[in-house]
Amino acid sequence: MTQPSPNFEGANRPRRLEDYVGQERLKAKLSVYLEATKARGQALDHTLIFGPPGLGKTTLAHIIAAELGVNIKVTSGPAIEKPGDLAAILTNSLEEGDVLFIDEIHRLGRVAEEHLYPAMEDFKLDIVIGQGPAARSIQLPIPRFTLIGATTRPGLITGPMRSRFGIIEHLAFYSPEELAQSLEREAIIRAYSIEPDAALEIGARARGTMRIAKNLLNRVRDYAQVSGEEVITKARAEDALDKMGYDTVGLNERDVKLLEMMVTKFAGGPVGLETLATAISEDALTIEDVYEPYLIQLGFIKRTSRGRMVTPHAYVHLGYELPQDLLLE
Ligand code: ADE
Repeated sequence: MTQPSPNFEGANRPRRLEDYVGQERLKAKLSVYLEATKARGQALDHTLIFGPPGLGKTTLAHIIAAELGVNIKVTSGPAIEKPGDLAAILTNSLEEGDVLFIDEIHRLGRVAEEHLYPAMEDFKLDIVIGQGPAARSIQLPIPRFTLIGATTRPGLITGPMRSRFGIIEHLAFYSPEELAQSLEREAIIRAYSIEPDAALEIGARARGTMRIAKNLLNRVRDYAQVSGEEVITKARAEDALDKMGYDTVGLNERDVKLLEMMVTKFAGGPVGLETLATAISEDALTIEDVYEPYLIQLGFIKRTSRGRMVTPHAYVHLGYELPQDLLLE
């Protein structure tokens, strides 16, 4: 079997809940649910995990399966087009107690979603045999499984779908310290050295996002290696991150462009999402899912009923003078 490349994102993922950094409240709840479920010898209730991209939803699903000692089958909403796709997964590859992980579950087609309801609720699959007037529907029993759905857009999950999840949990952005802890572990696994304050610098600029932190670490390591340095120092991390265009709070060029556009062309807002998207040649969904959550978390943008607005914090960070009306707020 070929080994996964060491740069493959999943290669160093933690495998147990205790190695999963941060998300303390979630982990505390989950460990109770896992222990109780295991003691009863049952399948875990269906679980929905939501939160911005790159926070470790897939990793958590793998950990849940490992903690339960069951297999995990991974698929995604867009991959399940027809009810037949779902039937194939549910009848061929799942055993009692196994986890079915559906990433981007909000992108599941309507028909497939409706077929999932009886599967989730009664562990039965409605299958239509034959065509035309001779067609009849039979119910096929399937193993008691756990559906883990992941989504960046919980608002797009329909009510009936949502109500079938017994556990609904949100992943929060990580603190720089939590990201640094994970990066130091990553460096140990890959047998190279990083100073703690270098890991913290990367953590501070990684937008609270685990995937970005790990990617930045890989790039900073490239810079250190090419410079012939054995240990990644804070100075090297700062220099590399500056060159990559991540500022001290983790804003990249696209974030800065978005904020500058709001300040210079729309007087700080309010400006509608679609207008903003057109102005910076970006897709509205990407702004909503990728850029905005972190900018809102930083308190640089707020969503109002009239559109998006830049806050005084953002003016200060970008070095713009505060307009009079914001001074008075
Ligand atoms: N990889 C993805 N999410 C993680 C987490 N919370 N802790 C450590 N490694 C991770």
